[in-house]
Amino acid sequence: GSVEYGLSVPVEIEYHDSIPNTNDRARELAVSGADGVAVLADEQTGARGRLGREWTSPSGGIWLSLVRRPDLPPARAPIYTLAAAVAAAEALRGVGVDAEIKWPNDVLVDGEKLVGVLTEMEGEADRVEWVVVGIGINANVDGAVVPAGATTVRERVGDVDRAALTRALLERFEELTAAPEDVLPAWREAAGTLGRRVRVETPGGEVVGEAVDVEFPGTLLVATDDGERRVSAGDCEHLRP
Ligand code: BTN
Repeated sequence: GSVEYGLSVPVEIEYHDSIPNTNDRARELAVSGADGVAVLADEQTGARGRLGREWTSPSGGIWLSLVRRPDLPPARAPIYTLAAAVAAAEALRGVGVDAEIKWPNDVLVDGEKLVGVLTEMEGEADRVEWVVVGIGINANVDGAVVPAGATTVRERVGDVDRAALTRALLERFEELTAAPEDVLPAWREAAGTLGRRVRVETPGGEVVGEAVDVEFPGTLLVATDDGERRVSAGDCEHLRP
């Protein structure tokens, strides 16, 4: 339960040594009415990434999925995903990892991926019923085990206290989602994308230019040769200057 983690926020922990993946378990709990539960696992055997990709989840990582039932129109849900990236980046900075956010919600160190976020939700047109925010942190994991282009906390600063890092993350996430107006400023502060040249693969085609800002609820403003473009979804790549 929450006592073990010493959480100061109303979130209960359901812990598994090994599970197919925490998002599916969290969805089950969400469908049966849960709110404020974080499913945590030491290892996932069938983890999912964004865009139907796989996600490597060996023992030693922080694999967690949080169920919330926010009073929120679905159009604002991206705030939850951005808040998760901010909370993860800040928690990692707290243990000495030079983490920065790549739009919208990856956390990188020196261009290598350390954290991914997979948000899933259900609801009506005007109201979210539940949201599951899945956060994967390559924590106490060998660098050789994660895919090319990814890194781990162990590789950067050595092993960390996973319970303490999880606690910091969950507490910051709750703080940010309770004050949504704080999310974008905190995101800008932790961002590595702003001011950089980027290529974004959007559903409507490729956008290349300088990332200027992030706007509510999570839109990236890109200055291209043909003027400003607003991008709300897609895979972003940081280009060399
Ligand atoms: C990405 O593609 O960047 C998102 C990765 C999300 C991984 C996390 S780990 C906890 C939760 N369970 C999953 O199967 N996926 C998410």
